[in-house]
Amino acid sequence: MTSGSTTRSAVASVGVSDRNASTVDTSTIVLGIETSCDETAAAVVMGGTDVLSSVVASQLDEHARFGGVVPEIASRAHLETLPQVVAEALERANIDVSRVDAVAATVGPGLVGALLVGVSAAKATALALDVPFVGVNHLEAHLYAALLDEPNARFPMLFVLVSGGHTLLVEMTGHDSYRVIGQTIDDAAGEAFDKVARFLGLSYPGGPAIDKAATRGKDTAIALPRAMLNDGLDVSFSGLKTAVINHVRANPHVSSDDVAASFQRAVVDVLVHKARRAASLIGANTIALGGGVAANSLLRSEMTKAGESDGIPVVLPSREMCTDNAAMIASAGWYRLRRGEVMGLDAGADPNLKLGAGQR
Ligand code: KG4
Ligand code: ZN
Repeated sequence: MTSGSTTRSAVASVGVSDRNASTVDTSTIVLGIETSCDETAAAVVMGGTDVLSSVVASQLDEHARFGGVVPEIASRAHLETLPQVVAEALERANIDVSRVDAVAATVGPGLVGALLVGVSAAKATALALDVPFVGVNHLEAHLYAALLDEPNARFPMLFVLVSGGHTLLVEMTGHDSYRVIGQTIDDAAGEAFDKVARFLGLSYPGGPAIDKAATRGKDTAIALPRAMLNDGLDVSFSGLKTAVINHVRANPHVSSDDVAASFQRAVVDVLVHKARRAASLIGANTIALGGGVAANSLLRSEMTKAGESDGIPVVLPSREMCTDNAAMIASAGWYRLRRGEVMGLDAGADPNLKLGAGQR
């Protein structure tokens, strides 16, 4: 771990900026900071979509032996790593910190201690640079990760957010206009991947491990349930996880690769089925995927195929933009800044922040 000296000197070397934040355009540069869970990230994005740098320091090794994220370890690691990550993001972007027009940070949802590290650092930097501080909803930012490569994707949009903590089907009719139309009633998709992987003795985090094992397995090997398939837009993955556990206990010599492939197929079948139904209900012109599970190979290919056959373009973020990063925070921050949605320096973090909740 590194000390905070690098960033302190970078910030201290800068005078007060006289840049006018009311003119937000393609040259406006936002420094983004993300610390909501176990990735310490900073990025510099110009004009909302031009990623000048994106640095992610993962704490995976620190949490792996516990099989999940330990909040106290996460906060401490953010504190130790963030200054260096911010300095590196500025260096890679090859800009002087005085070019930064606003600082955006995730204000929720997430682990409260972890969030506060990023929010405090962002507010201090904004104060030192005399630029606005923009609070960003982490869930909204996952959507902007999809829009980085497709900023002109057409509304109404169905946003399928599948991450470690959330599984949401969201109708988006414009920037900052969200309506949750479906969600998990129990486990999030990523949580189900992580729990099944852990049960199979695969590495942490489970999603990528299952994705890899599934390529060696047969996805029809085990009959697994597709819960609530024809029942509204909500989903449920807890019964699927239990079915996997029961099957493996009853068949201890079953191939883990077959289990991984069959499980992954069941999750993807449900997500694609529900996304198609939701897209048709809202008359979607675009389906956008976001969140860590959007990195899943089968989900990406099946959702793309479904979009092709339904005549709806499917927007997929690059794999590195699916999992937590700060480019998506800076991008979402730019759109908020453009609408004049800046926050005071008394703003705090909200670990339970909902999508579409007023942040102003
Ligand atoms: O969005 P994210 O980085 O963090 C949250 O905001 O939750 O998502 C992390 C989740 C984890 O559950 C991880 O297992 C899952 O995304 N994940 C995947 C894949 N890559 C990451 N799940 C399935 N297939 C993948 N390739
Ligand atoms: Zn996330």
